[in-house]
Amino acid sequence: MRQPSSSPSLMRYLSVLVAGVILGTLATLVLVRALQARVDPFPRALMQVMERQLQQFGQGPAADRCDPADAISRLQSLRVLAGGIETAFPGLASDRRFAAQASRLRATLDAELASPSACGQAPRIADDIQAACRGCHQDFR
Ligand code: HEC
Repeated sequence: MRQPSSSPSLMRYLSVLVAGVILGTLATLVLVRALQARVDPFPRALMQVMERQLQQFGQGPAADRCDPADAISRLQSLRVLAGGIETAFPGLASDRRFAAQASRLRATLDAELASPSACGQAPRIADDIQAACRGCHQDFR
C-alpha cells in the first residue's frame, strides 16, 4: 500500500501548485507596480503641497513671533497653487460642481489676501480655508 503523502505524483502536483502561487503573486506585484507608475503623481502632489502650505500658515502665526510678510506669502502661494487645481484634475475640470469648489477656495484666499492682517487672525483664516478644502473633498475625494 502506498502512502498518499509520499506519492511522487502528489509531491509533483504540490510543488507545481506552490510554484504557481509564487509566480502568480510575483506577476501580480509586478503588474501592480507598473500600473502605479502610470498614475500621474501631479494631482496628489499639488494637494500635498497645498496641505503643507496651509499647515505652515496655521502654525507660523500661532507662535508669538508672526512675520506678516511670511504669513502673506504662504497665502499667496496657496492662491497660486489653487489656480492649478483644474489643470491637475483634467477628468474633473469640466464638472461644474468641481470647478465651483475650486473657485470657492480661490475666492476665500482672495478675500483673505485683500484684508491686511493675517497674523492676528491666522486660526480663523486657516479654518475658513480648511472649510473650502473640505467642501470639495466631501464630493470628490
Ligand atoms: C476642487 C476640489 C478640491 C479642492 C478645493 C481641494 N482639494 Fe484636496 N483633493 C481633491 C481631490 C479630488 C483629491 C483626491 C486626489 C487623488 O486621490 O487622486 C484630493 C486629495 C487631497 C489630499 C490627499 C493627497 C494624497 O496624497 O492622496 C490632500 C492632503 C488634500 N487634498 C489637501 C487639500 C487642501 C489642504 C486643500 C485646501 C487648501 C484642498 N485639498 C482643496 C480635490 C480638492
